[in-house]
Amino acid sequence: SAAKKDGFDWFMRKEIFEQPRAVGDALLGRHSGDGQLQLDELRLSEHDLRQVDKIVIIGCGTANYAGLVAKYAIEHWTRIPCEVELAHEFRYRDPILTSNTLVVAISQSGETADTLMAVRYARLQKAKVLAICNTNGSTIPRESDAVIYTHAGPEIGVASTKGFLTQLVACYVLGLYLAQVRATKFGDEIAAVVHELEKMPAHVQQVLDGAEAVYALARKHAGTRSVLFLGRHAGFPVALEGALKLKELAYIHAEGFAAGELKHGPIALIEEGLPVFCVMPPQGRDQLHDKMVSAIQEIRARGAHTLVLVEEGDDDVDDYADEIIRLPVVPTLLQPILATVPLQLFACELATVMGHDVDQPRNLAKSVTVE
Ligand code: G6P
Repeated sequence: SAAKKDGFDWFMRKEIFEQPRAVGDALLGRHSGDGQLQLDELRLSEHDLRQVDKIVIIGCGTANYAGLVAKYAIEHWTRIPCEVELAHEFRYRDPILTSNTLVVAISQSGETADTLMAVRYARLQKAKVLAICNTNGSTIPRESDAVIYTHAGPEIGVASTKGFLTQLVACYVLGLYLAQVRATKFGDEIAAVVHELEKMPAHVQQVLDGAEAVYALARKHAGTRSVLFLGRHAGFPVALEGALKLKELAYIHAEGFAAGELKHGPIALIEEGLPVFCVMPPQGRDQLHDKMVSAIQEIRARGAHTLVLVEEGDDDVDDYADEIIRLPVVPTLLQPILATVPLQLFACELATVMGHDVDQPRNLAKSVTVE
């Protein structure tokens, strides 16, 4: 095939390092210099978008986690109620859909049967379907009312990386565009977020520049039987995605939790030396940051080995972190673009050290075209 690994050992690692370019391309041409969103490619009219009274985001695997992040952003910016559901669950539970429901189908490949069947079902119920997809002309966008392509370029590694980051960008663009069309945010507020998005490629590059330190952590923990991931708010789906990457590639038990849920059960899993990744919410006005510090303190006191992703300049957790991974300072809703990257690097390296085939993990397919 014409696809080359460019000197990387795996397509996945190459694709992780392509993310600054991919994130930039996903935003390209979708805003004017002054921060106005433009989505001329969208085949839905502004009239239709103003009628939307509910959004349902569907997808599978990593795409579902992109949807979970999107919910936080889209509801905050647009005030439109937004549900996120696994495509295969959605279709079989008699969901409530009307012509004013916008179903957003996220799929890197555009060929996942579970998602495609859900799209067909939604359209039969007269809902409008918007696809967020990476593969031009694939089945899901062809059968949808509208499409936003993610422009990540071909993704060959079975575990999605640049596919995920660009799905996040597409979801942010959609949310901001809806906010603009429906005037739920002032133009300057929207422009400020767009400006932050424009800086993301450089920030992702900065995280990648720290790859060696993350690889060292992966090598150190290569013998572990289990890894937990904790996050809150938009960092919760990041925890889920970090755990999925480890399951897919390293075949070890990994689970992501909302940190607030710890005390309701998962804290019983904490034992001496268990590696726990913790995604710290950015320092801000709300209480999330301090609550996460307490959660980290608690698991540390019970013997967890804490690996903390925290923004630069935040030293509140230094005393309770066994390892620290610093992230550039960005708004809370955009942090998943950065916090996911070290977790991708960790899983890729850990699987490599364990001798697994990172690009072709056992039992998995890049796109699952059967239900
Ligand atoms: C497969 C892959 C996953 C992917 C999921 C959804 O299960 O192994 O990595 O997240 O399908 O794929 P899609 O192409 O619909 O995003």
